[in-house]
Amino acid sequence: MNLPLPSPDAAAHSRELVAAITREIGLAGGWISFARFMELALYASGLGYYAAGARKFGAAGDFITAPEMTPCFGRALATQVAQVMVGSAPFVLEVGAGSGRLAADLLLELEQRGALPERYDILDLSADLRERQQATLAAAAPHLLARVSWLDRLPDAFSGVVVANELLDAMPAHIVAWREDGIFERGVSLDEQGGFTWNERPASGALLAAAEEIGRQCRLPPGYESEISLAARAWSGEWGHRLQRGALLLIDYGFPRREFYHQQRGRGTLMCHYRHHAHPDPFYLPGLQDLTVHIDFTAIIAAADGSGLDLLGYTSQGQFLLNCGILDLLGAQPADTPDYIRAAGAINRLIMPHEMGELFKVMAIGRGLDVPLCGFAAGDQSRRL
Ligand SMILES: C[S@@+](CC[C@H](N)C(=O)[O-])C[C@H]1O[C@@H](n2cnc3c(N)ncnc32)[C@H](O)[C@@H]1O
Repeated sequence: MNLPLPSPDAAAHSRELVAAITREIGLAGGWISFARFMELALYASGLGYYAAGARKFGAAGDFITAPEMTPCFGRALATQVAQVMVGSAPFVLEVGAGSGRLAADLLLELEQRGALPERYDILDLSADLRERQQATLAAAAPHLLARVSWLDRLPDAFSGVVVANELLDAMPAHIVAWREDGIFERGVSLDEQGGFTWNERPASGALLAAAEEIGRQCRLPPGYESEISLAARAWSGEWGHRLQRGALLLIDYGFPRREFYHQQRGRGTLMCHYRHHAHPDPFYLPGLQDLTVHIDFTAIIAAADGSGLDLLGYTSQGQFLLNCGILDLLGAQPADTPDYIRAAGAINRLIMPHEMGELFKVMAIGRGLDVPLCGFAAGDQSRRL
């Protein structure tokens, strides 16, 4: 791999995290699951990628997310958020708010429409990002800051709209290998030089049950390897007893199960992002790169449905944004200005099928709403799940 070299400080930071993970592997008897490795690499206190000070999002970071590309993403999403609030309660909870950009864009657009939520709560695992979210909102929407609160855990009871853009893909996932002689969990051990190396153990418990079901449904051939995100399933199922009335809007890259576990995707979907280079090696500079997996949306709705919630819509990001009027937002801007050209380029990337329009999906899950959601009015793909 020909990747940019880290600064001496960044390299030292990564070495500290490597030492912490190495210690944990030793204490665990020589093996940890990949899900635990991913959790430490991303969230280990003060050292993990999201827990420490790396820039992460945007041009100066490692990857770019939709809210960082154009305010039109948040402004279009506001159409759906406003509709759900009318049918439920005037509250928004954003989980995994990154830099705070989406919160600022949503709040400013909702204000324009006379549809401000009474409260906009943010929950993020990362204390470092919480500071960044506060700074973004203080700069972009200081007059709305009083409506924003930061939570330390999911609320016991909530009505309104839960928004999560690229949250589920950042949750630690297990990796499973379907082999001739059984189903194995891929984990991490140390090689003779003390470096991280893959190591397999027979899968067990909930992971084995999930892997058996997927193997049967998708007829996976021996040698097939992929991820199963028990954390994303558990998080989605949690809402069964927490959401009283309203909807979760989950935006992420992924597929229905049969496409996720497609015969041609036999090495899974794990991807690492380091300074705008995408590569498949999760052991490269832990703490300095993002690790991410695609979402099996069939598993997400099964978990939510099992906890008593309904599927309210599922479609591609491109179709969702078109349904929410993103082109009208663009059309309302003065044409041929640098801002217009920038916004048009970003919207193109967000909606075109060969860019982010088709790979990213939007899923709405909820209860107690009695009108169809506008973001899924055309092109709903729920039957593919
Ligand atoms: C890939 S980033 C996406 C950030 C932002 N939504 C965006 O689109 O730019 C994932 C975010 O989710 C947060 N996160 C991951 N797991 C979480 C959890 N279980 N609860 C709350 N936040 C979480 C991370 O700290 C990070 O801010």
